[in-house]
Amino acid sequence: MDEIRELIQAAAATARKETSEEPEPAFTGSVAYPVDCSVDRGLAGAIAADTKIGYVNGSKGWLIYRGYDVFDLSEHSTFEETSFLLLNGHLPTSAELAAFEEKLRSYSQLPPSVIQVLREMPINETHPMSALRTAVSFLGNWDPTADTTTVEAETEVAIRLIAQIPLLVGAIARLRHGKDPVDPKPNHTLAQGLLYAMNGEEPDAKTARVMDVALILHADHGMNASTFTTMVVNSSLSDMYGSIVAGIASLKGPLHGGANEQVLYTLEEIGNPDNVEAWFTKAREQKRKVMGFGHRVYKAYDPRARILGPLAAKLTSADPEMKALYETAIRLEKAVTEGLGTEKKIFPNVDFYSGIVYRAMGIETAIFTPIFAASRISGWTARALEYLGDNRIFRPRAVYTGPTSVDYVPMSER
Ligand SMILES: CC(C)(COP(=O)(O)OP(=O)(O)OC[C@H]1O[C@@H](n2cnc3c(N)ncnc32)[C@H](O)[C@@H]1OP(=O)(O)O)[C@@H](O)C(=O)NCCC(=O)NCCS
Repeated sequence: MDEIRELIQAAAATARKETSEEPEPAFTGSVAYPVDCSVDRGLAGAIAADTKIGYVNGSKGWLIYRGYDVFDLSEHSTFEETSFLLLNGHLPTSAELAAFEEKLRSYSQLPPSVIQVLREMPINETHPMSALRTAVSFLGNWDPTADTTTVEAETEVAIRLIAQIPLLVGAIARLRHGKDPVDPKPNHTLAQGLLYAMNGEEPDAKTARVMDVALILHADHGMNASTFTTMVVNSSLSDMYGSIVAGIASLKGPLHGGANEQVLYTLEEIGNPDNVEAWFTKAREQKRKVMGFGHRVYKAYDPRARILGPLAAKLTSADPEMKALYETAIRLEKAVTEGLGTEKKIFPNVDFYSGIVYRAMGIETAIFTPIFAASRISGWTARALEYLGDNRIFRPRAVYTGPTSVDYVPMSER
């Protein structure tokens, strides 16, 4: 896959060049508790845990998993290897990787009862993320180890879910259109298996590699809403299935993973590249957020978008309709970054181009966020397990702004 490798190398070179003059981040090390810091709405600025799993440097546009630059992982690694890295803290030896892949394969059959559950819901009217959270919850109900909340037992659940969420996503994608799920093939990688589970056709090598890169890019991203949600639920010593169900519910929202789906609807609403400027002017007047832009942490170009943007360009170049979609996106990026970026440091985020990449692969829009979940499962579980190793229940406080001494008024006097 030389062309994909070259594209990633070019994206990495641009990122390193453009951000090399940025100042060092104010904070990179560990902190002594209690932390003295200001916390804004949405917990902006709050530090909730120490971690060795991943690091987002928002001013430099860096994304690091366990010390490794995401550009290097995208170029050289696979989603299996990256998942192992996130869970275990080091790149696997070939024997460790073979054992990990064997373990994943041992979980590559979904229980027929979970397919039955999916069949029994109004699957074509249910958002696929809602179907997915129900399915993961159901898997937990049939796992006798689910309530064993040790790191060891929950690691096993993590590996099971890394293997099975792609299969659930594929089954949901097919059942929505009245198609039966297909049996997984034992020789498939997770990326191939996800594509096969959705399409029922053997993916070509290039498409499988693009999906592999997309899965690597989405695997972990700091204390984002769904990761934090997963960790909060797990910190009460609930169970890993329940924690992941909560993570899926959080990821679904359009301000988070659900943005990739909304981006496609926005591009379709704009219609063609020439409509972009007028659409954007109106969106600004209406104070409407443009999906796929902005980020709590990145105040520089998102490194994931640096790869997904050129990938989208490559994948859409041969088809006039897809090319127009990509050109609409490029014009929108220009309009937003020139209109808002200088003032508010707003750039495209991971969700802006991922949907175009998936659409170019023939995947329907409603399945974009479930694909995100099939990747983020690695980061969710890695971080929940890391925290479980030195667990303390999450329990922040709110500043009470209501009254304190109101006299009770009997019903007859209200
Ligand atoms: C990601 C997101 C939720 C972060 O929210 P946040 O941290 O509260 O946003 P910020 O505080 O950095 O926003 C700063 C300013 O930029 C504006 N802004 C942020 N994202 C914007 C967007 N996508 N379109 C237009 N304006 C945006 C905010 O309204 C805010 O304006 P104000 O200063 O006038 O109030 C937000 O950028 C957003 O809603 N983006 C669209 C959804 C999306 O793509 N989500 C996926 C994230 S990976």
